[in-house]
Amino acid sequence: MTGLNLLRRPRRLRVSAGMRSLVRETRLSVDALVYPLFVVEGQGVRREISSMPGVFQLSVDEAVRETAGAREDGVRAVLLFGLPAAKDDTGSAAADPAAPVQTAVRALREHCSDVTIITDVCLCEYTSHGHCGVLDGEHILNDVTVEHLARAAVSHAEAGAHIVAPSDMMDGRVAAIRAALDARGFDDVAIMSYAAKYCSAFYGPFREAVDSAPAFGDRRTHQMDPANTDEALREVELDLAEGADIIMVKPALPYLDVIQRVKTRFRQPTAAYQVSGEYAMLKAAGRLDWIDEPRAMLESLTGIHRAGADIIITYYAREAARALAEHDLV
Ligand code: PBG
Repeated sequence: MTGLNLLRRPRRLRVSAGMRSLVRETRLSVDALVYPLFVVEGQGVRREISSMPGVFQLSVDEAVRETAGAREDGVRAVLLFGLPAAKDDTGSAAADPAAPVQTAVRALREHCSDVTIITDVCLCEYTSHGHCGVLDGEHILNDVTVEHLARAAVSHAEAGAHIVAPSDMMDGRVAAIRAALDARGFDDVAIMSYAAKYCSAFYGPFREAVDSAPAFGDRRTHQMDPANTDEALREVELDLAEGADIIMVKPALPYLDVIQRVKTRFRQPTAAYQVSGEYAMLKAAGRLDWIDEPRAMLESLTGIHRAGADIIITYYAREAARALAEHDLV
């Protein structure tokens, strides 16, 4: 006998792909993935966003085609953002039943009836100044904004949305949206609140996608300070008390500790958003051949899931679904 006389040899469970898959603790599944789409006016429009290769602004007909393709890949949920034809001071197109998001929801209900439709509720895509609310000078009016958000959420529910997802970070918006939905008989429409949304540099490419960079100032008075986690728990607690069905942490990768604390503390359905800047970084490094992009994609998504996210919103949803189906990359 040579060598060590070891009773425990952890490497035994790593000797083959089959052995590793038997003892794998986190099993990333396509069921967890939500695919964000950017819907614009027009027909036959499919315009790539330069800082997000593989992601497009889509007219309603193209959004339906993209969703049908995603469904074939196994993805069962989409999150819709809209770019209105015209923006104004108060973001009035946010609640317009003829705007791209509401139109897309109706079309998806008709053509992709087994896909869960989630809509982003915020004013920043709709205001001419790019802020998430109605302004008085340079100050966002919280309570006035909340009324506008509730109207937008109702218009999404009327179009047929299954879940509305307020991303504005105004105080009290979940309660106001819940009340507005219930008053109109939409008690089955769920709320996924962006509960712990940080003021992040990683939203940069998204703002190109929907042309929503604030004309002045920033979002620090409503989005959270990246240094805080106790505050995230307070935000989540409030949103749950106000009626949120699913709570979200955003961005994902720089905030895995927050995802874990939120999941272990509340044991509620928890979502994480792998945002545009996270996607752009992986794409850029992959294009330069500096990383193996498919592996980095699955490793990131697995990490987010392992931290405690039941639901992952990702621009990689289709690519990840296909990679998971192939199975050999994991
Ligand atoms: C606001 C909203 C933003 C994102 C989702 N909803 C941008 C922001 O707060 O500036 C960012 C998503 C991403 O970066 O992928 N409506």
